[in-house]
Amino acid sequence: MQKKITVVGAGNVGATCALYLAQQELGDVVLLDIMEGVPQGKALDLLQAGAVLGFDSLLTGTNDYADTANSDIVVITAGLARKPGMDRLDLLKKNAEIIGGITENVAKHSPNAIIIMVTNPIDVMVYLSYKKSGFPSNRVIGQAGVLDSARYATFIARELNTSVQHVRAMVLGGHGDSMVPLPRFSTVSGIPITELIPPNRIKAINDRTRTGGGEIVKLLGSGSAYYAPAAATVQMVESIVNDSNHILPCSVYATGQYGISDIYIGLPTKLGKDGVNEIIELQLDSAEQQALLNSAEVYKKSVEEVAEFF
Ligand code: 2OP
Repeated sequence: MQKKITVVGAGNVGATCALYLAQQELGDVVLLDIMEGVPQGKALDLLQAGAVLGFDSLLTGTNDYADTANSDIVVITAGLARKPGMDRLDLLKKNAEIIGGITENVAKHSPNAIIIMVTNPIDVMVYLSYKKSGFPSNRVIGQAGVLDSARYATFIARELNTSVQHVRAMVLGGHGDSMVPLPRFSTVSGIPITELIPPNRIKAINDRTRTGGGEIVKLLGSGSAYYAPAAATVQMVESIVNDSNHILPCSVYATGQYGISDIYIGLPTKLGKDGVNEIIELQLDSAEQQALLNSAEVYKKSVEEVAEFF
């Protein structure tokens, strides 16, 4: 039977997710937004793209959660971007309110769904969604590590002037400046990049990866990246729908792994039909471990700031 995949938020990230999901025929896609007509219009446009590109996934748009009932997967992309005059905490609180409401609706209409959180700050919003949904933590997962690793892989491939196809990169930690690119665990055709790229260049690539989202925000002038974020999200959906058990860095609920607990943070995760199957524990060296703990600390603080919304 076709899977039912709901995408909440019909903005650039949501609509691009819907396109990639349909293109890969991962299921029938319901695009939901509060803006009347927008999800309907975009879904119809995407459906018609299928006639040219040759995909048969059904796409529908709606403003009503009843139409999302019994979704297998719900991707949440809705939320506000920071506006002039709004500080980080204002945005955090606004999005916490929005994500809280969305999660209540998702849990009510699709009690068995797997939630994939894309709204920023992802590691905080996914924690909120976990608390609000009452779902087990294996069914509430944050996107980000795949995106950050994709950026890392891109910069590695460009540095070495090689195809990106055999680059496998690993970035852990939260989706922000504190993220932790791991050169020892990032490879080209199985060769760690520490064997291929001098330390000063690795450092430059790590730094560019950490600010990879901001680099695009600056270039765009308004709005943020959406092609790579959507592609990263859809790779997670693919691993779940096809029960591929890919090992991907995802924002997951830590229960003592790496000495971290009761927080969502990016860790290597095996993703299959039940969501998180396993969190892989790597032997980190002391600098890597400390960087991961520092990142976890950042998100512990942010979570405390929105505790009123749980
Ligand atoms: C990014 O990193 C906005 O989180 C998004 O591009």
